[in-house]
Amino acid sequence: MFSQNVFDKTNSFSTPFYYYDLDLLKQTLEIVKQESEKYNFIVHYAIKANANTEILKSIKSFDLGADCVSGNEIKKAIHCGFSPKDIVFAGVGKSDKEIDTALDADIFCFNCESLQEIEVINELAVSKNKIAKIALRINPNIYANTHKYITTGLEENKFGINFSMLEFVLDDMKVLNNTELIGLHFHIGSQITDMKSFKLLCFRINEIQNWFENRKVKIENINVGGGLGVDYDEPDLYRIPDFASYFKLFNDFLEVRLDQKVHFELGRSITAQCGTLISKVLYIKKAVNTNFIILDAGMTELMRPALYQAYHKIENLSKRKSIEAEQLKYDVVGPICESSDCFAKGINLPETFRGDIIAIRTAGAYGEVMANDYNLRDRVKAVYSD
Ligand code: LLP
Repeated sequence: MFSQNVFDKTNSFSTPFYYYDLDLLKQTLEIVKQESEKYNFIVHYAIKANANTEILKSIKSFDLGADCVSGNEIKKAIHCGFSPKDIVFAGVGKSDKEIDTALDADIFCFNCESLQEIEVINELAVSKNKIAKIALRINPNIYANTHKYITTGLEENKFGINFSMLEFVLDDMKVLNNTELIGLHFHIGSQITDMKSFKLLCFRINEIQNWFENRKVKIENINVGGGLGVDYDEPDLYRIPDFASYFKLFNDFLEVRLDQKVHFELGRSITAQCGTLISKVLYIKKAVNTNFIILDAGMTELMRPALYQAYHKIENLSKRKSIEAEQLKYDVVGPICESSDCFAKGINLPETFRGDIIAIRTAGAYGEVMANDYNLRDRVKAVYSD
């Protein structure tokens, strides 16, 4: 059982810390490999979800590629053993320095988001006498049915090149001799649980491919991005996302051309369930309509609830043997000087005391990597199951 194991293993460590279940990560990666290889799909791990060195090394050992969004992510990927030929580099604002890093490393592909960016990449490639391989990130204008801050594929979002601009971009690229168009890139958002959104994406890509073919432009690679959601409500029931249905959907609906390669950039679905934020109760404070559980972890360690009002399941590991204990209503908050520093409002937990150990589940993606030292807090540590 999760709580028993984690409590026993981590009781002696000082809190707060991230606890990573590396066995679950490996089981998840085995399924990712098994299901993607059925269709010869290529998976790049989106490093932005979790850039912890141990996690990256585990992922690398399953021969995934890397999806990076900064020069430092590229350097970290290479440091952790990812081959540059498996690295894609996305981002709406790549700096000249970051482009230089990527060119020097000879990465597989730049996912480009504007004409001006392509012009700059070309200019820097000329100065190095290199050819930069690029994919056009196209904004497909598809609603991903997820939180508005993690929706990326709508016209109003800053991401990607608008379809109406493509003719102009292709024309301009004809004189950019140090860039080579090798693919198309899409990404409509994150934490997507409504599979219809991915189906719509496939239909839209099929249309866009036809558009390119009509112009005699050959597309060798289609990158459909990431976004597969995880179950924040029931992390023990759905420990591994349904990769079989996810990859099958793309195989069923995407019209893949002969010799074309299909790429994915998965982040959250690979690492979210293997990570738990472990914290200790500092104080219990009785208030007018609720009781506050004040933890030693806050929005500095896990920002998602404060930023997206995200739900993470919370468990009191210390009370694991008293399931029968009376349930009380609590607001679970952190120590940071912000009212948004709140993990959950009005949830039921067994009666909780100072010193109890609290688990905040499904925190392996966009948790540790988004931690910061606001209030000059110590940087959060990590503990591994092995
Ligand atoms: N590819 C691109 C171009 C992306 O922008 C992202 C995520 C991914 C792939 C990976 O998406 P995933 O498979 O992880 O859904 N901090 C937010 C999530 C931001 C996602 C940003 N882009 C959160 O905590 O929910």
